[in-house]
Amino acid sequence: MPLSRRSTLTQFLIEERRRYPSASGDFNALILDVALACKAIARAVAFGELGGMLGNHPAEGGSSVNVQGETQKKLDVISNDMFIRANEWGGHLAGMASEEMDDPYQIPGQYPRGKYLLVFDPLDGSSNIDVNVSVGSIFSILRAPQEVIESGRDIRAEDFFQPGAQQVAAGYALYGPTTMLVLTVGKGVNGFTLDPSLGEFKLTHPQIQVPEDTQEFAINSSNSRFWEAPVKRYVDECLAGKTGPRSKDFNMRWIASMVAEAHRILMRGGVFMYPRDTKDPSKPGRLRLLYEANPIGMVMEQAGGRASTGREPMLAVQPTALHQRIGLVFGSKNEVERIERYHAEPQAYKDEASPLFNERSLFRD
Ligand code: AHG
Ligand code: MN
Ligand code: MN
Repeated sequence: MPLSRRSTLTQFLIEERRRYPSASGDFNALILDVALACKAIARAVAFGELGGMLGNHPAEGGSSVNVQGETQKKLDVISNDMFIRANEWGGHLAGMASEEMDDPYQIPGQYPRGKYLLVFDPLDGSSNIDVNVSVGSIFSILRAPQEVIESGRDIRAEDFFQPGAQQVAAGYALYGPTTMLVLTVGKGVNGFTLDPSLGEFKLTHPQIQVPEDTQEFAINSSNSRFWEAPVKRYVDECLAGKTGPRSKDFNMRWIASMVAEAHRILMRGGVFMYPRDTKDPSKPGRLRLLYEANPIGMVMEQAGGRASTGREPMLAVQPTALHQRIGLVFGSKNEVERIERYHAEPQAYKDEASPLFNERSLFRD
């Protein structure tokens, strides 16, 4: 295949950096190391059963449980390892944290330490891996606290407790029919497609914008009996379609790979909800703030969409734990804002005499 005129990720980063002559280049090198980890994971995923990497970790048919209390797949552990190996040596990081590790990862003594923190979900949607449905990796880059950089001390969980608005960069790789890398460094969102013949990411989706309106929503409706009133109201109104208060029909999707849902929404609009619910009082939501909600939130907002807990902007939330869970709503701006409005005025819909709860609703109590 002839060399196309599309920028490679490397070229894109170098050209961006030329606008900031004082930049050290550390940041670009870090992004390229993250991209390398994603390429390695894409290869492992692509071999599927042939690579002997499907199934649970550690033994065939066995299972092991991560810090989240969730079953770890072999590929969860392999992907976590690939992220570490690709990023620990470069001298750009003060430490890392991941869904698959209880505590922060210290940069080994033989390598220099740097000024950034890398937080990641090495394989999102991994319950889909055995059925050959899209999965992905999600990453967030923060600045290490100044005191950590100056002292060179070991990293602590609290060093990662920064609101999403402080992310320097965020993005995800999607291992679907094609492998894509979607990246924001705080100036819009750019999408790159992996050219398998070159092993390079090429800029294919410059300055992605999420449509402000949508007729498509994504939620796991098997949880409907646990939803809070504002979520019930929103979904009921969507389901009521043309004859309901929204006066239009909605479509529904649920892949159970948040990264794949995020990508669909980025491409054609939509709204995704994994809201806070009453299923398990010890879990305020299903998804994790630092390596799922915040990076996807930054991507959405940088693409003109919105991300929220329902009650406040996602990127304003002050984290208090490394593996903190949170209610997450993101996607087309006008829909997310509507859901936020419903949260701000829940009493208006708690009226059980409401026809939407008692007659038309498929999700009534
Ligand atoms: P992970 O594979 O990293 O644990 O994340 C899975 C998440 C997310 O990708 C998806 O939206 C959600 O779990 C699926 O939840 P349900 O099992 O409730 O469908
Ligand atoms: Mn995940
Ligand atoms: Mn995961």
